Amino acid sequence: MANENQFKLRTRFVATRGVQEYRATIQSLVTPQDVVLELGCAWGTTTALLAERCRLVVGTDVGPECITRARQSYPHVRFEVLDAFDVRAALHLSDRLGLAFTKVYFDLSGLSSYRALLDVIALLTMYATVLRPDTVVAKSGSLKHFASHCWAWDVPSPSVVAERPMERQLIGVGGDVDVLR
Ligand SMILES: C[S@@+](CC[C@H](N)C(=O)[O-])C[C@H]1O[C@@H](n2cnc3c(N)ncnc32)[C@H](O)[C@@H]1O
Repeated sequence: MANENQFKLRTRFVATRGVQEYRATIQSLVTPQDVVLELGCAWGTTTALLAERCRLVVGTDVGPECITRARQSYPHVRFEVLDAFDVRAALHLSDRLGLAFTKVYFDLSGLSSYRALLDVIALLTMYATVLRPDTVVAKSGSLKHFASHCWAWDVPSPSVVAERPMERQLIGVGGDVDVLR
């Protein structure tokens, strides 16, 4: 039974639609102190952009041929073969580095359709629970759509309700990104 002592996630979830939005978050969210894990890096284009802004990034993909090509294109960036659904392998990677991942980015093919929403949410909670990064950024149109229809009930005062357009209320008081809380 849920109670006040139950485990509470501290990770914020950021939902983006399309690769432009996914990459645009880097400038706003990633700092030079961050240790970043990208799941589904393909040829490493986003991983290389992350590398310019953070302490360390590891780009990972389930396809070994992607990782070979990414390593050739960006020899200064670290890439590893990893199945994103194997969160224990991600934990071992963090242990091998001796560093905790502070941000996780994921962009996995097949997770854009609305049918995949439960898989996306499962991934978010799995990484938030096991790796405990401060932020997980997902490229998932279905998650963004879902999040934009969520309202984290915060007992707003009548004046807040009156002043805020409905769409701002839906993403929570003070929220300016799409966040599932
Ligand atoms: C759209 S591409 C990624 C593009 C890349 N993030 C970028 O910004 O250039 C999706 C990638 O997800 C990878 N993928 C699919 N399922 C995966 C899984 N379970 N674990 C890791 N990678 C996966 C695919 O191999 C593919 O390279």
